[in-house]
Amino acid sequence: MKYVDVKNTLGKHFCVGSFSIILAVLLNYFSEAGLSTAFARVSFFLLFLTLIIGPIMRLRKPKKEFSVFKKPWTWRGELGIWFFITALLHFYFAMKHDFIGGSLINALGGGIGGGGLGIANLLGLIALVLSLILTITSFNKVIKYLGMESWKWVQSFTYVVFYLVFGHLIYFQFFTTHGSGPDWFGYTSVVMFLVVLVLQILAFFKTVKESRGEREEEQEKPKEENKSEKKKD
Ligand code: HEM
Repeated sequence: MKYVDVKNTLGKHFCVGSFSIILAVLLNYFSEAGLSTAFARVSFFLLFLTLIIGPIMRLRKPKKEFSVFKKPWTWRGELGIWFFITALLHFYFAMKHDFIGGSLINALGGGIGGGGLGIANLLGLIALVLSLILTITSFNKVIKYLGMESWKWVQSFTYVVFYLVFGHLIYFQFFTTHGSGPDWFGYTSVVMFLVVLVLQILAFFKTVKESRGEREEEQEKPKEENKSEKKKD
């Protein structure tokens, strides 16, 4: 079975969308996160979920008893699209806020002028542009148009987005005076990063093991066929 999500449904969009907005509002209300930070954190969490589903499915076969989440991979498209929407909201609120002076030139110029702020913003911007491409190619009609192989190749860039966003957030959490230094989110995001990395490595080894097994089986087949032919002679 191939764990590919080629069909996005309105019901799932409603679930993921309301979950994302409620989570951002709760983060904004109960922790001291501003709207930009709240949407940034939700966005990172959605990206994390999108990325762990694939390797988990490769490592473990789904159990039948799971009802709603029986097919977790079918949520990937909706999670990915809402990751982009919340990232866009984060960008909008960050631009409105004083720390990037309301101008993209200012945002990117910070790094060239000295600090790493411009580089961090640039990483975020590249991630956002790549995410736009990933989102456009997540709609049913586009998937059909591209064909499965090309679509899969494009989607593999999700990992690139993840590593860019991780660099972006680590800068703000650990290397700036923005906020009061690393907080619970900073440390949680490092754990989330390690989870994605380990799952990716384990899934890779499983794929290697399986394809080696298949190749060995194929190599043994002709030998057995030869033996049985000789017996007949
Ligand atoms: C895929 C796109 C993006 C994602 C997923 C993302 C995610 C994040 C995350 C998780 C943080 C850390 C928040 C925290 O410390 O709690 C952050 C901070 C920040 N990001 Fe982004 N970001 C993206 C794009 C951008 C872009 C394009 C810009 C502006 C050019 C930007 C500007 C900022 C700024 C100024 C902060 C520090 C202030 C804050 O916490 O909001 N980000 N981002």
